[in-house]
Amino acid sequence: MNFHTRKWVKPEDLNPNGTLFGGSLLKWIDEEAVIYAIVQLDNPKVVTKLISEINFVSSARQGDIIELGITATHFGRTSITLTCEVRNMITRKSILTIDRLVFVNVDPQGNPHPHGKTAISYIKDRFPNVEKLG
Ligand SMILES: CC(C)(COP(=O)(O)OP(=O)(O)OC[C@H]1O[C@@H](n2cnc3c(N)ncnc32)[C@H](O)[C@@H]1OP(=O)(O)O)[C@@H](O)C(=O)NCCC(=O)NCCS
Repeated sequence: MNFHTRKWVKPEDLNPNGTLFGGSLLKWIDEEAVIYAIVQLDNPKVVTKLISEINFVSSARQGDIIELGITATHFGRTSITLTCEVRNMITRKSILTIDRLVFVNVDPQGNPHPHGKTAISYIKDRFPNVEKLG
């Protein structure tokens, strides 16, 4: 799993107990996951269909740096299924896990549309000349 996005937990992200507010974390995850799905399906019109059980494993506190990890576990006909883990970047302690996030590739009318993808693609697959470009 690649942990691309890092977040610095700030006062505005806290709940009244002084720990990271779950709603803020879920907003970050939904955005991170949809960007992952958009890139993998090569279509900016992708919608969240399902988020499975969310396990808040441990708390994060103000000043912590956390990182969001997402990876694809299944490519369907119109959907893609992702899995997610959030952890403390310094200690690597798990903060949250989500087993399944399902996103659906849609057409301009918002109807499910086949995406034709079957496996994870990487930057080097999408931009084969990137190293030559320097
Ligand atoms: C996403 C949406 C277009 C799908 O419509 P639908 O009538 O359920 O479409 P389908 O039954 O053809 O299913 C589409 C895909 O989703 C999958 N799916 C549908 N319901 C699912 C569920 N409960 N769990 C997991 N996957 C599901 C199907 O298996 C199918 O995947 P596949 O083609 O890879 O096999 C529709 O439900 C919708 O618009 N939902 C609102 C989305 C939204 O507003 N999200 C929040 C903001 S982004």
